[in-house]
Amino acid sequence: MSAEIIDGKALSREVMEDLKPRIASLKEKGIIPGLTVIIVGTDPASMSYVTSKGKACERLGIGSETIMLKEDTSQKDLLAIIENLNQNSRVHGILVQLPLPDQIDENLVLESINSEKDVDGFSPINIGRLMAGQDCFVPATPNGVMEMLARSNIDPEGKHAVIIGRSNIVGKPMAALLMQKKKGANATVTLCHSRTKDMEKLTIQADILIAAIGKPNFVTADMVKPGAVVIDIGINRVDDDSRERGYRIVGDVDFEAVKEIASAITPVPGGVGRMTIAMLMRSTVQSAESSL
Ligand code: GUN
Repeated sequence: MSAEIIDGKALSREVMEDLKPRIASLKEKGIIPGLTVIIVGTDPASMSYVTSKGKACERLGIGSETIMLKEDTSQKDLLAIIENLNQNSRVHGILVQLPLPDQIDENLVLESINSEKDVDGFSPINIGRLMAGQDCFVPATPNGVMEMLARSNIDPEGKHAVIIGRSNIVGKPMAALLMQKKKGANATVTLCHSRTKDMEKLTIQADILIAAIGKPNFVTADMVKPGAVVIDIGINRVDDDSRERGYRIVGDVDFEAVKEIASAITPVPGGVGRMTIAMLMRSTVQSAESSL
């Protein structure tokens, strides 16, 4: 039996459609939701994310500005730009694309973003609110996974969710969201990482297995329990001479083998990535609504 393919394209379209009337209603009140993305340097993966974010804003009629800064931008200059955006009432969302170059202290930058405009949910205030189970901006990728599960009628309650990866952007907030004491969550969570011993003994127990490691084909079929739901958050470039651009995008999961064992699985591309962008749009609209 082959797994149900969770269609990130279709589900993200649903999320975006739901936003249209909310954006229209804001416009009637004279407000255009505005997202400003700051990118320092020219990392190709970061550039590609930033382009996708800009396109999504355009499609929805969200005001979008991208501030592209040189790789050698100083921390002081970046903090001054953020402070300006904090004060600008037309800007509802501020997103600093990560990673940042070495001369810039990432924590200091994230702390400097007004928590009411921190649509990425990376500032310590929003991380704290998330851990405390309060309403807050939630990082878009794990938020997108929760939305995908809900829209696919997969209820994590009482299930064993095993996450591979402990990043601040995905793994840690994913664990926090799945363990929340609320409808659509209530999972038992195990978080694995690079120092976990006998990882496959844990992954094989997962009812919901979430891979966010950044290594192609890391999750093989023997690591997956039959009938598990498998969510692939990896976005990896692998060389492919048959493609004009010389590479293709794959996830962290050996999709072809695992789809024969899982009950549901997200593809890459066309899975979680799509949802991430949609959730960022939703947070920006939410921020604009809160400004009323
Ligand atoms: N780098 C990789 N993913 C993300 C993201 O979701 N937000 C930001 N700001 N940087 C990233």
